[in-house]
Amino acid sequence: MSTASRLFDVSGRICVVTGGASGIGLACAEALAENGAKVTLMDINAQCLHDTVSSLTSRGFEVRGELVDVSNQASVASAFQNTVNHYGRLDVVFANAGIDSGPGFLGREGQRLLEGSLENLDLRNWERVMAINLNGVLYCLQESAKHMKPQGSGKIVVTTSIASCLNAAWVGTSYFPAKAGASHLTRQAALELAKYNIQVNAIAPGAFATNIADGHVKDPEMRRLLEAGNPQHRVAEPAEIKGVALLLASAASSYITGSEIVIDGGALLGQAD
Ligand SMILES: NC(=O)c1ccc[n+]([C@@H]2O[C@H](COP(=O)([O-])OP(=O)(O)OC[C@H]3O[C@@H](n4cnc5c(N)ncnc54)[C@H](O)[C@@H]3O)[C@@H](O)[C@H]2O)c1
Repeated sequence: MSTASRLFDVSGRICVVTGGASGIGLACAEALAENGAKVTLMDINAQCLHDTVSSLTSRGFEVRGELVDVSNQASVASAFQNTVNHYGRLDVVFANAGIDSGPGFLGREGQRLLEGSLENLDLRNWERVMAINLNGVLYCLQESAKHMKPQGSGKIVVTTSIASCLNAAWVGTSYFPAKAGASHLTRQAALELAKYNIQVNAIAPGAFATNIADGHVKDPEMRRLLEAGNPQHRVAEPAEIKGVALLLASAASSYITGSEIVIDGGALLGQAD
């Protein structure tokens, strides 16, 4: 085994990835499974979960699925318990499941959108986005702590977004406080759990071509807009998350906790030529 392989080794690790049936979560799950980890995908989409588990299993990877709604604490608790019952331990958790928040206050042509304005903000949308993107992370952190503390080890990776520190007019308002909350929650959990040898970090993606918001990032017109505003002039493919996922899941990140690693092609830096 080369020194790089040893450093980033995840073989035999018992891993959970929420939202693992699609997009960024699926790419994280692949990175782990391709390198010998045993991965439980937790997802709310039964068909997609079934198809993804079948496809990864047919490639020879050790993968299982749990149907979970991360906004439901009991559902998360039972899926984590099933996983620990199955494998006897829990090493790595990616709290990744998340949804978009609908339109912002500006449309693509720069026009004001009534439905995205503050005074028309739909509270059901606000509560759903918070329930999945923030409460869902909290429940995963709670279940991870419960199972990892007695082991005296563990690694937790939360998918936040560059929206945790940047605002945008064309994204629905509720996404920003939910992601900023998840980002700060990551740091608070890291502070509390460091004593137990549990590391908690976040990945903050920019635009990735996934199925979020019905795949709007893949829509050619939206893609052109995003590419034009990005210093690297492109959006990322899900597989581009794999390096950071392996870093944060392995011994290569042994002294990293409470960090949020931005992976956005330079979008946070501003616009360039
Ligand atoms: N794609 C991007 O541009 C981008 C940018 C920044 C952050 N993110 C974040 O990345 C994460 C993954 O999103 P993605 O882009 O891969 O989207 P995606 O839609 O491709 O995948 C998300 C997965 O989460 C699952 N999911 C949704 N609600 C769930 C719930 N309540 N319980 C369990 N599973 C649920 C979906 O079924 C889906 O399989 C999200 O947290 C998202 O906010 C995405």
